Amino acid sequence: MSVNEEKVAAMRAALQVAAGPADAGDRIVIFDTTLRDGEQSPGCSMNTEEKLRVAETLEHMGVDVIEAGFPIASEGDFEAVQAIARRVKNSVVCGLARANAADIDRAAEALRPAQRSRIHTFIGTSPLHRQFQLALDMEQVHERVIDSVTRARRYTDDVEWSAMDASRTEPDFLFRCIETAIRCGATTVNIPDTVGYAYPEEFADLIRAIRDNVPSIDKAIISVHCHNDLGLAVANSLLAVKAGARQIECTINGIGERAGNCALEEVVMAIRTRHDLLPYKSRIVTQDIMKASRLISAITGFNVQPNKAIVGANAFAHESGIHQDGVLKNAQTYEIMRPEDVGLVRSSLVMGKHSGRHAFRKKLEELGYALGDNALNDAFARFKQLADKKKEVSDEDIMALVDDQLQTGTQRVRLDSLSVQCGTTVRPRAELVLEVDGERRGATAEGDGPVDAIFRAIRAVVPHEASLPLFQIHAVTEGTDAQAVVTVRLEESGKTVNGQAADTDTMVASARAYVAALNKLLTKRGKTAPAALSA
Ligand code: KIV
Ligand code: ZN
Repeated sequence: MSVNEEKVAAMRAALQVAAGPADAGDRIVIFDTTLRDGEQSPGCSMNTEEKLRVAETLEHMGVDVIEAGFPIASEGDFEAVQAIARRVKNSVVCGLARANAADIDRAAEALRPAQRSRIHTFIGTSPLHRQFQLALDMEQVHERVIDSVTRARRYTDDVEWSAMDASRTEPDFLFRCIETAIRCGATTVNIPDTVGYAYPEEFADLIRAIRDNVPSIDKAIISVHCHNDLGLAVANSLLAVKAGARQIECTINGIGERAGNCALEEVVMAIRTRHDLLPYKSRIVTQDIMKASRLISAITGFNVQPNKAIVGANAFAHESGIHQDGVLKNAQTYEIMRPEDVGLVRSSLVMGKHSGRHAFRKKLEELGYALGDNALNDAFARFKQLADKKKEVSDEDIMALVDDQLQTGTQRVRLDSLSVQCGTTVRPRAELVLEVDGERRGATAEGDGPVDAIFRAIRAVVPHEASLPLFQIHAVTEGTDAQAVVTVRLEESGKTVNGQAADTDTMVASARAYVAALNKLLTKRGKTAPAALSA
């Protein structure tokens, strides 16, 4: 065995993947890129604390490789990848790098604290990418493959090489680049359908052709990375696996560039549910799927459409009489998966104002939250306040309340008090007091509506020019006493932040969501002098 082969074997053993794509190994490596490709979707940005929460959730869920970010992209990206590299112990932590020395060195530096790290280096190989994006000819691209993979291998034994726009690359050139990448030390070779153009059978044929035409292919794992422009990302990934791929790159809720990436929950549940046709296994703890999905929605403000497979609100709901009748007699009449297998637990504990701390703690455990003592006390106090307003507090209410509380980051601005006047006979007006860097400051403003008046009052206290690309209200439950979850997205100089808050008073939730977004914006700006917040 050559040194390279020994290293590949060691990596496979660590990931428990079979000896090569050509053999009968049935283990699929799940590579999650929510924090990199997912975060690249417009409006989807996350701060370091949020990325850490996502990384911890993915690790707990059994994700094999977490692509934590693109370290050279910004100081924030570097910091986040480094923080995740320090925190995560059971998943490989991966950083993205273009095919140049500066990117690779920066990725290596960010990943240095990781127990197990991967450098993922890529270059566009298709004619369009070579000519218009890179202005390089085939030989120059090929040279870059050699240089980049060789350089990445100086830092780690675990190197992934990607042929960006592989599905539109001349096959012979693609085979040559893959062979070179493997010979230079790549242990995973990724075949992206970057623009979501491939058709399932065609994509599977490409994977087969790679296996037939790349002499060293058995020395690496074949990975696929499918975008969803034609809604085919999951189908393409599954057929690629049937053709020999053993790593799937995906994101929670399918978030990602344009129409998104292959959805982790869909591909994993398809493999689990149709094991008769897809005799493979992943390490994913499927019971964590709903929790991960909710976390990503809460952080990004990208709500999941109700009819979305696996994680949509209606995915396990039965409305029509015939369906309800069937499900009551035997759930399998209309359910191909058990809701509890994706983490939808209907608990018997009904919570209300007489529920005690013990029951509340138990409920949180059932819902998948592990809070420390202080956080539990705060959540319990908020639960009691909510229970005073609502007769019955649902699981969704408690999840919204805890998600709201778990929002992290420096809180330079807090909502102290708010009163709003509105209606058909008065001009909408908001009066509020904010605590800014510990000092109470008030303002009154009029607006086109009550929300407009609130946001104007906040701007009067903390002047800023950010635009408001998203203001979204979502009722957690049915009924007029429902909590409103409000998402506010602010954008300033190309930087986007999301703030979210839940309250039974929609105006209070709106004000708190705006303040949450503002705090993130201030952190992003890096303005620390209190004077920067003065009117
Ligand atoms: O879509 C793509 O090609 C990518 C690469 C960086 C793998 O995201
Ligand atoms: Zn991509």
